[in-house]
Amino acid sequence: MIILAIETSCDETAIAIVDIRGPKTRPRISVLSHIISSQVKLHAPFGGVVPNVAKREHQKNLIPLLLHAVKEAGLDSQKLKIQNSKPQRTMQNTIEKILEREPRLLSQFTKKIIPLPPPPVDAIAVTSGPGLAPALWVGVNFARALATRWEMPLIPVNHMAGHLYSPLLKTQSSQRSALNPLRFPALALLVSGGHTELVLTRGYGKYKIIGETLDDAAGEAFDKVARLLGLPYPGGPEISALAEKKTKDTRQKIAITLPRPMIHSKNYHFSFSGLKTAVLYLIDDRKKKNDVKQIRPAIAKEFQNAVIEVLIKKTIRAAKEYRAKTILLGGGVAANKQLRRDLERALRKEMPRSRLLIPQQALTGDNALMIALAAYFTGKKMAPNKVGAEANKKLS
Ligand code: KG4
Ligand code: ZN
Repeated sequence: MIILAIETSCDETAIAIVDIRGPKTRPRISVLSHIISSQVKLHAPFGGVVPNVAKREHQKNLIPLLLHAVKEAGLDSQKLKIQNSKPQRTMQNTIEKILEREPRLLSQFTKKIIPLPPPPVDAIAVTSGPGLAPALWVGVNFARALATRWEMPLIPVNHMAGHLYSPLLKTQSSQRSALNPLRFPALALLVSGGHTELVLTRGYGKYKIIGETLDDAAGEAFDKVARLLGLPYPGGPEISALAEKKTKDTRQKIAITLPRPMIHSKNYHFSFSGLKTAVLYLIDDRKKKNDVKQIRPAIAKEFQNAVIEVLIKKTIRAAKEYRAKTILLGGGVAANKQLRRDLERALRKEMPRSRLLIPQQALTGDNALMIALAAYFTGKKMAPNKVGAEANKKLS
């Protein structure tokens, strides 16, 4: 099955085309194309993602990215000598209606996609939520228009399911290869800018959120603390780099202690907003001593330690309680080197028989490859007019 996947839930426009076949327990995949266009530089001056800027950029990027992906995958019409047919008036009207709120996309679609013969793709997958509503809708409407024009089914995909399956990918190569095996029950720690959840899965497409954040997500806490420290957006990589530097630098001995929120609570929920407030008070206090800049690495390190200790402690406890055979890590914060290292170490010690799967660094952030994978494992093919975006969609 050849899947073309589209992801626009936040500030990356991403398209992937994969050829994936075989039984779900042992599929083989070849990545025909995988492109991510990041808008992070555009949003950085605002200190966060501006939904309408993201919407505008997705509109601008989707068609050039799609054309590039189809070509890279070797599925373009020139190569395959596929004939095209002019769409009937009713189809044209449907497409115009679908894209009426994205006029810029509609005009490009009419010029560049309508004349293009359909590539030999079996289904189109698209992130339908959770995410920023204006950003999600561009991708969903684009996918609906494409599926209508190419007369193909559409598979709506939960963005968090994408992050959950992302560690199964071993390579991003076009050579056919196996995926990492997933053994159930599996426990996923999903940590991104908008979510922090522990998800128990007992089969493909069966999810139970056993714990989640009660306030800020882990990535959001990194971003907010980075801002308090005067570091640019996105803050996760900045804090993580400062903390790594601190780990190597043993000269500076500053004792800073931050709380580990909810580390001893009996449930699997998290809370990171108090930690951010603790950093705020600490900085206010240090401003009097005028040494905030000097102790920035120490704060970054202690903040990162606090977040990671709580995440790992609860993950291990849940993994033991549910006897997880596979533990999965996913989401933007999974790029954090210390989290990767410490989780691996803790599991090797506490649950040596379990298997930890961590995504490749390049697949921790938002991408369409993980959306293609989730579509393959759990997707239901639907008629384009039945698919919509849902900003607060939950895994269920
Ligand atoms: O999954 P993602 O790319 O987008 C969402 O779906 O939210 O996650 C983005 C989040 C941001 O908050 C970013 O600061 C955080 O992931 N992040 C990190 C690191 N790299 C990205 N957090 C901690 N350490 C990192 N190295
Ligand atoms: Zn994400």
